[in-house]
Amino acid sequence: MNKKQVYIYKAFERFWHWMQAILIFFLAFTGFEIHGSFSFLGYSDAVRYHNIAAYMFMILIVFAIFWHFSTGEWRQYVPTFKNIKSQLNYYIFGIFRNAPHPTKKTVLSKLNPLQKLTYFGLKILVIPLSLTSGLLYMFYRYPTRYGVDSINISTLKYIAIFHTIAAILLVVFIITHLYLITTGKTITSNLRAMLTGYEELEEYGAEENKPSDLARGDMIDKKESLIS
Ligand code: HEM
Repeated sequence: MNKKQVYIYKAFERFWHWMQAILIFFLAFTGFEIHGSFSFLGYSDAVRYHNIAAYMFMILIVFAIFWHFSTGEWRQYVPTFKNIKSQLNYYIFGIFRNAPHPTKKTVLSKLNPLQKLTYFGLKILVIPLSLTSGLLYMFYRYPTRYGVDSINISTLKYIAIFHTIAAILLVVFIITHLYLITTGKTITSNLRAMLTGYEELEEYGAEENKPSDLARGDMIDKKESLIS
């Protein structure tokens, strides 16, 4: 099988990825200080920095949505249950037995079925939950302060609970993500790809799966990837 260096992550994609990583990490750090989990910046500075990072995060999200739709890259995240089991088997058993990756990475299909499902869930559920609860948290006081009753929320309790649940889910995701980064062809190959844009990928021949098939999460070689 031929291998070649392929430009897989475009400049904006890498910028968005790293900015998002920094901002979510910073929002989690300041957020859990606000929550009272520890004390480092002091409560009022933590709130101030959390608010600034939240605005930056929202601006980044607007640009990212525009980029994903204008380039068609949103298709990468269409979830599929196909081959989920093989992918799970790989992470639970195969990886410790040096089994080959069950799905093949191509420019048109960068994500394996488990990644598609996870990232789709983040984009459609967890990040919107964090964002809307965060905005309600930010603005809940102001309408009542000026005598406007339209979003007159009497208690912060549920907003705080939903915001904290979203924050915990994001932290769990980050921890899992950090581990999975190391499970590429080599320990650093995924990290290097997201830094430089280039990754060494296998070329596919005529008889093998085309990127269009792979985009739906198909297998490279079912025989190869069956893990007992
Ligand atoms: C655009 C998104 C976000 C907005 C608008 C936002 C806004 C806020 C606001 C206004 C507060 C309350 C500050 C205060 O007490 O005055 C807060 C608290 C908090 N935020 Fe965020 N936030 C956002 C994203 C995040 C993210 C991504 C995380 C974590 C990964 C996070 C974690 C937390 C935590 C843990 C708290 C404390 C919750 C509590 O104990 O009630 N936030 N956020």
